[in-house]
Amino acid sequence: MIEVQNLTKHYGSLTAIRDVSFTVAPGEIVGFLGPNGAGKSTTMRILACFLPASSGTARVAGFDVFRGSMEVRKRIGYLPENVPLYTDMRVAPYLDFVAEMKGVARSARKKVVADVMDRALIADVQSRLIRNLSKGYRQRVGLAQALVGDPAVLILDEPTIGLDPAQIAEIRNLIKSLAGDHTVILSTHILPEVSMVCGSVVIINRGAIVAQGPIDRLVEQFFPTSRIEVEVAAPRGAVRDAMKTIPGVVRVEERAASHDGIGRFVVESARGHDVRGEIFQMAAQQKWALLELRRVGMTLEEVFIRILAGEEREAAATTAADAVPEEAS
Ligand SMILES: Nc1ncnc2c1ncn2[C@@H]1O[C@H](COP(=O)(O)OP(=O)(O)OP(=O)(O)O)[C@@H](O)[C@H]1O
Ligand SMILES: [Mg+2]
Repeated sequence: MIEVQNLTKHYGSLTAIRDVSFTVAPGEIVGFLGPNGAGKSTTMRILACFLPASSGTARVAGFDVFRGSMEVRKRIGYLPENVPLYTDMRVAPYLDFVAEMKGVARSARKKVVADVMDRALIADVQSRLIRNLSKGYRQRVGLAQALVGDPAVLILDEPTIGLDPAQIAEIRNLIKSLAGDHTVILSTHILPEVSMVCGSVVIINRGAIVAQGPIDRLVEQFFPTSRIEVEVAAPRGAVRDAMKTIPGVVRVEERAASHDGIGRFVVESARGHDVRGEIFQMAAQQKWALLELRRVGMTLEEVFIRILAGEEREAAATTAADAVPEEAS
């Protein structure tokens, strides 16, 4: 539904994105992640036909964003990073105007507007001037205008920014409910939100894609071991040595002890090799009191940090290698 191939965008001498390629399947909700300045908004603007690419292609809903931009525009809803609203208009008339622009028949407009106001939780402010709305409400009006006409593809640049916690939860549910019938790409810096709403992610850093795919698969790829946290009342050295002998265990890391005679460890084992049973047996045999034994799930946040840290190391290594003269290396 969204196919991006070797997309590059230069702003003067600055290359905002370079050779960006990814696809979003129909009905999928994809999280577009990356640090500030990575190129998320630039990519989304190109997908929404707001900005021409310098090179490469992007197809949205079956049409090229450059050659078929009118066709693309009919099929997308776009929430830009800075929501441009006609601030002198009142909410409902503004949305009615958006519906007219999007070609919604006059007879259907009232219902369409009422429906998007309900979904974006702004029915209570429908008669107010947009300029008098609070930031969160303006954001929701922006989301409502993206939803007008029930477009097949939604491009949402930080949709939950500025919302209060209760509204964030509501808007997340709204976005989740779009899956299946709609294709959604959304950017955000709230990583737990991505795990809640999206099945897959595309991660961009310094203008280049550094990882993409289903979240579970990325977790497996970047954390090939599973982790168990163990707390046991016993001599710490003995526990550590004993756990290291368990088949499948690849690493035992000691955490700060809570009291004397109590050790906390993180035990890493090959993925799919659950060693909790063995740890329990071992403790029972040695008559050690097992105080805690739990599996630690790796989060998208940890994956993200690991990927970016790897990128930084690579960049530093490249710079260092460039700086070292031939004969010195
Ligand atoms: N109109 C512009 N003119 C010049 N440079 C720009 C313009 N828009 C963006 N840039 C630059 O392009 C790069 C990518 O910016 P972009 O807004 O796409 O990042 P982003 O990933 O959306 O970041 P954020 O998380 O802060 O929103 C940045 O270095 C930015 O300064
Ligand atoms: Mg941005």
